[in-house]
Amino acid sequence: MFYRTHHCGELCKKDIGKTVILSGWIQKIRNLGSLIFIDLRDYFGIIQLFFSKKLINKFPKLGREFLIKINGKVVERKSKNYHIPTGEIEILVFHLYILNPSLLPPFTIEDETDGNEVIRMKYKYLDIRRSYIKKNLILRHNVSLNIRNFLSKNGFLEIETPLLINHSPEGARSFFVPSRIHKEKFYALSQSPQLFKQLLMIGGINKYFQIVKCFRDEDARSDRQIEFTQIDCEMSFVKKKDILVFFENFIKYLFKKIKNIQLESFTCMTYDDAIKMYGSDTPDLRIGMKFIEMNNFFKENKINFFKENKITTIGINIPNCSHYTNDKIKSIIKNISYNINNFFWIKYFPDKTFFSSKKELFSNENYLTIIKYFKATPGDLLFFIFGGKKNIRNILYQIRIEMSNRLNLKNSKIFKPLWIIDLPLLEWNEEEKRYKSLHHPFTSPKKEDIHLFKKNKLENIRSQSYELIINGVEIGSGSIRIHNKKIQNLIFKYLGLSVKEIQSKFGFFMKSLDYGTPPHGGIAFGLDRLIAILKGSNNIKDFIAFPKNNFGKDIMMNSPSFLEDKILKELYLYK
Ligand code: AMO
Repeated sequence: MFYRTHHCGELCKKDIGKTVILSGWIQKIRNLGSLIFIDLRDYFGIIQLFFSKKLINKFPKLGREFLIKINGKVVERKSKNYHIPTGEIEILVFHLYILNPSLLPPFTIEDETDGNEVIRMKYKYLDIRRSYIKKNLILRHNVSLNIRNFLSKNGFLEIETPLLINHSPEGARSFFVPSRIHKEKFYALSQSPQLFKQLLMIGGINKYFQIVKCFRDEDARSDRQIEFTQIDCEMSFVKKKDILVFFENFIKYLFKKIKNIQLESFTCMTYDDAIKMYGSDTPDLRIGMKFIEMNNFFKENKINFFKENKITTIGINIPNCSHYTNDKIKSIIKNISYNINNFFWIKYFPDKTFFSSKKELFSNENYLTIIKYFKATPGDLLFFIFGGKKNIRNILYQIRIEMSNRLNLKNSKIFKPLWIIDLPLLEWNEEEKRYKSLHHPFTSPKKEDIHLFKKNKLENIRSQSYELIINGVEIGSGSIRIHNKKIQNLIFKYLGLSVKEIQSKFGFFMKSLDYGTPPHGGIAFGLDRLIAILKGSNNIKDFIAFPKNNFGKDIMMNSPSFLEDKILKELYLYK
């Protein structure tokens, strides 16, 4: 009771008349001549204090972020502020004590702060005093708590796995930790507990989860940190369907608990369809504007346009944009593609007349058939591109994103989850001139595609994998794993690993496959991304207490930093 009898945010009308002790930081001072008002903030909220001039004059240096303790009486406010919970009352202060003075903070500690990201990262402890960041950290706690409850109730065991491990040659870039005891040897920081969770299944654990830090030496961006957190899960004796059903319920549970939103059944789409319909494996389903391939339509309607199969025509319907001028449309295209001749567009005006940017291409009748085919409504803009499939899908993907931004179609209150399934097992890496796993080498190929190995159609082999996309962001990814040693060996072989390399890098794991490995599969969700999405944001930094900047630096403690020669020598790093 020495520092406080109450918290700032908990007092209300029913407390009028009570004498209270409060401690908190000064958010704002307003001097109205004979009366002085202070907004006092603690973890729980803000309350208005008022002082006589006589009392405040004893503290001439009082300023923002001073930590004070006051003793006073709760009284009813004359001019009420219904925007804050304590807005009907205020505290008439009798005594004030400065617990700790403060320098003037380098930015305002308000939700709408004047501090940019750099300054807020440098003074992260002040940023955390802002209620926006504080609420995000509380949200993070609540999400983690609900995850633990849900998974535990469903028979998952939380097991910690090591962070100091060996580098896996098939993963992303690792961070390395030199060993002092083992000369010239290095640990790698774990990129994910992938192998350990599989070993736990081999160890007979039925269902595992872990909320776990992962480290990857890659370029950071708004939805990527070099140090991030996964909700890592694995189950034994399951098929893909079991995992999709269970984790769809898991995500629905979190949305209901945290946001009181009942999500509808998740859309499920193959990787091939996603690329075909949206030019992306992480499509944002809030946007619409599905790609429509026109080649068959042209053929069926005997419309004479590029008969060769090499040229594909794809169109999208951009809603309510028939009023866009040709110059405006051209400038959008030019920002994305250098070849404007591969485009044409049809403006379908509100009065049901139309304009085509390439009138000579088709007859009027053909144009009307196209408009009908797109089920366009008057006011829409039909937009077409033709050329090589891969290239035009990519360009149209960017146009779709650009138009969705212009038309403000990304409503942060709407959530459209999507399972992408059947991703390719392998992809060609031009730099290394070899195939690499799209996910990781422990992903099981689809049974019906295994014969394609012999035919050397490696790019056509699909895997038993899945990704969860919400509003265009990859929230989770996983797969059914290989539990058969022969197939695991085969995959390593196609990834270009020699027998010796398999033995030296994965020998321990290959051995474990000899001991009755159960069929198993799992998934890992990005916790930082999931929390950001729940808040309708894609900047994960706001949901991590002490994030790194986009160059992987902690600008508050200035890490990474140089080490003294003495330490380098001890680690055999300085020769
Ligand atoms: P993956 O590498 O796809 O799969 O990671 C799983 C999920 O983790 C999140 N994520 C990230 N979040 C923030 N910053 C990053 N740098 C970052 N990288 C990934 C994403 C992603 O979907 N072991 C496998 C999972 C499995 O197969 O079970 C794995 O790590 O949301």
